[in-house]
Amino acid sequence: MKLSVNGTVHDVDVEEDMPLLWVLRDELGITGPKYGCGISQCGACSVHIDGELVKSCQVAAMDVEGEVTTIEGLGTPDLMHTVQQAWVTHQVAQCGYCQSGQIMAAAALLSQNAAPSDAEIDEGMSANLCRCGTYPRIRAAVKTAALQMKGA
Ligand code: FES
Repeated sequence: MKLSVNGTVHDVDVEEDMPLLWVLRDELGITGPKYGCGISQCGACSVHIDGELVKSCQVAAMDVEGEVTTIEGLGTPDLMHTVQQAWVTHQVAQCGYCQSGQIMAAAALLSQNAAPSDAEIDEGMSANLCRCGTYPRIRAAVKTAALQMKGA
């Protein structure tokens, strides 16, 4: 099957029911999306498919239609996405394990709501858990990213 990830089309030969997360990490070596729970409870595996937030542990790679974007495709250290820059500004990450999923969720939220309220941020990010409890910094970073996107 062909799978387009971060602008590159890959030929992959995988089991029919293999989750996208496994294909990304084990077949393609794209390790930004993380395995946290495997049961749609934590959001660590979050990616975008055609801009929509998707838990990559919950979709079979064979069923993916559209462009997959992972944290690696959102921006680079030299050319960060506005959300990534805001994460650096606010030093959001603690252990960091959930943060690629958090950033993908924040980018998806801001693409749908350019100026979310605190409640809308909390609601929009509620599917992404952080065991370190960085939620106040996540909220602050989302607000900063929203302001910077508005100004851009
Ligand atoms: Fe996919 Fe937790 S690993 S939601």
